Order: sequence, then structure tokens, then C-alpha cells
Amino acid sequence: MADKQLISIAVDGPVSAGKSSLCDALSQKLGILHLDTGAMYRAVGLFAIKNNISPDDEEALEAVVKNKLADISVDYQDGRQITKLNGEDVSALLRSEKVGAYASAVSRFPVVRRYLVSLQQQLARERSLLIDGRDIGTVVLPDAKVKIFLTASPEERALRRYKQLINAGSKADYNMVLSDLLARDEQDKNRKADPLRAAPDAVILDTSKLNFEESLQEMINIVKAVYDN
Ligand code: DC
Repeated sequence: MADKQLISIAVDGPVSAGKSSLCDALSQKLGILHLDTGAMYRAVGLFAIKNNISPDDEEALEAVVKNKLADISVDYQDGRQITKLNGEDVSALLRSEKVGAYASAVSRFPVVRRYLVSLQQQLARERSLLIDGRDIGTVVLPDAKVKIFLTASPEERALRRYKQLINAGSKADYNMVLSDLLARDEQDKNRKADPLRAAPDAVILDTSKLNFEESLQEMINIVKAVYDN
């Protein structure tokens, strides 16, 4: 339905800045759906893993996209995103470190980005969405009225990620988590196609010294400042 009052909110930021959980909470508060675009890149990464395609093989990935071999789609059930790969719900398979590393690698390639960016833009034309990713304010929704760039120091993000892993019962080493995170940051910031950077008109929100509730409140304030006026 083409609705005159569609709301699009763009949230970008580096790995482990808390985007997913904060955007889930914010979208619930605002009563709109949350599109996690990282899950779409992860689904392409998962396709590469399942089909023994190196995440560095740009030609093979180009053939995958051009021949429509990896059909990525998004659905919602009870307000939660379901990410599908060739019609199969793969949401539960996307969170591993390996899939994350593949996603980061395949997301360097313009052909992969063009495919997913156009899907994301199509979704945003159909409904109000809070979209999180790396290039939402710069490429996917350059005209979004609200753009938030969520960040925190690498040490703080690594600590949060480390605690998540420990709480999930995984073995983790803080220094390894920090060095993986710095490597992922470098890859996301330095790729040629749509690198991670704040849009010039984004509000930068550094959550290093804020807890979850405080960060959420700041995000609500940023949205209200635009939509309540
Ligand atoms: O947010 P995430 O960790 O689930 O994202 C996985 C990878 O996908 C990340 O390393 C960079 C890439 N990505 C991207 O390039 N553009 C987006 N809009 C979202 C994610």
C-alpha cells in the first residue's frame, strides 16, 4: 500500500554498537517494523557457505546474483523479521561468527550491494520501517528524515560482545573479540562500495557511557525532535 504517511528511519553504525537490540526496542515503541539489513547480507554469506563459494570470489558471487540463485526475502511474524533464502526461513542460522565474517566479506562487492539495496528500498516504499545497517542514511534512504549513527568505543563494543558470548554459554577471549571487531570495522569502513560512514546529516549517538535504557531514550528524543515538529 502506498501510504502518504510512511515513516523511514535510518540507523547506521559499526559492529556491536547495539543497533539490533536498540532498533528492536525503538521500533516497538514507535509501532513500526524493524528491518535488519545485516541479516540480508548474512543470508548471502550463508548461501556462499552452503555452496562452497569463497567469500572473496567476486566473479562467482556476481554469477549468483545475476542468475538469481540466492533469492533473499523478508517477512514478518508477530512483528519479528523472518529472513528467507530461496524461500526457506534461515533466521536462526545467521548469527554465527562464521556467517558474520562471510557477510562482511561478500558485502564488499557492488553486485551484492546493488541487489540488496534495491530490495531494501522496495521494502521501504511499501511500509514504514526503521532500517538498520551500514549504508542506510548514505545510500538506501538518503532522504530519510531521521538518521542516527550509533557508535561506541571499540573497547566498549568488544566488552558488550564478549559478555553476550559468555552469557550465551560460548567460550570467548576478550582480546580476540576486540581484534576481530577492529578487523571487521576496518573492512566495513575501507571497502570501496558504500563504506560505513555517518551521513553528513546524521545525528551521532555515542553510547559508550550510556546503558541500554539511556541509549533508547536518546534515540526516542532524536525521533521526536523530527516527527513531533
Ligand atoms: O550488522 P551485521 O553484523 O549483522 O552485518 C553483517 C555484515 O554485513 C557487516 O559486516 C557489514 C555488512 N552490512 C553491510 O555492508 N551493509 C548493511 N546495510 C548491513 C550489513
